[in-house]
Amino acid sequence: MEEDQFDIDYNPFKKDVRVLLGIDLDQYKPAQMKRRIRSFILKYKCETLVEFVSRLRSTPNVLLDFKDFLTINVTEFFRNPERFLDLQVNILPSLISEARKQGRPLRIWSAGCSNGSEAYTMAIIMEDSFPGQDYSITATDIDETVMKLASEGDFREIDIKNLSQELLLKHFDKNPEEQRWKIKSRLKRNVKFLRNNLLEDPFTKGFDLILCRNVVIYFTEEAKDVLYKKFFDALTVGGVLFIGGTETILNSKQVGFTRHSNLFYYK
Ligand SMILES: C[S@@+](CC[C@H](N)C(=O)[O-])C[C@H]1O[C@@H](n2cnc3c(N)ncnc32)[C@H](O)[C@@H]1O
Repeated sequence: MEEDQFDIDYNPFKKDVRVLLGIDLDQYKPAQMKRRIRSFILKYKCETLVEFVSRLRSTPNVLLDFKDFLTINVTEFFRNPERFLDLQVNILPSLISEARKQGRPLRIWSAGCSNGSEAYTMAIIMEDSFPGQDYSITATDIDETVMKLASEGDFREIDIKNLSQELLLKHFDKNPEEQRWKIKSRLKRNVKFLRNNLLEDPFTKGFDLILCRNVVIYFTEEAKDVLYKKFFDALTVGGVLFIGGTETILNSKQVGFTRHSNLFYYK
């Protein structure tokens, strides 16, 4: 009985969430999303979605918490380090040489960048492994709260756990009292943060490398299809899409991609 009511309430709930947060739950897998929301509302002792919506409307902190819950901001520097090594050794050199041939900077996009760890990881790789190479990094996310953190470049110990002492000392200033690490401005200068909803907004074109990792987990297959086509169009010919460790693009050939290895797809 309670389950039925939840299902009935879910449609109007999606409309409310769209108005309150600008997030379209139709593009997220319904079974997983419902299961997650069902347990989330218990945290606020709500038994129905109707009750929960009125909490969302009346309490800004609950709304913020729900947005954080929906967007899942978990990230870290060099997430799956071996993949970044693969990128650095096997993928970036040819992308860079093509950009050089065309006499332009290498253009990178971190799509769904969370607090910026991924975008700054790319900046570290570019500075340390390809010094002197011109590059720009665009980093986008739907969530303005994390975007603000990202542009401040202020990190907790847990975010930087994959970084060696050498990299930490080179690229960060430590705030010893708060155990926080602030990224040096030299690394920030080529990184630009912008808000973008991957499911709705138009994309800029001309990227050599797009990273979209651990973002699409809850998107429906239809939403992913549309997204991967949009990424394809946003890449330069020969450009690469780098996806998350547990992800795969089912119809990559139809979209036009050539698969290099598990996580890298060439246009
Ligand atoms: C788990 S984090 C992944 C961060 C980073 N890419 C990584 O792999 O470590 C997922 C990010 O995707 C963002 N996101 C979720 N849905 C989005 C959408 N429709 N458009 C843009 N960003 C979205 C979330 O706000 C969150 O910051």
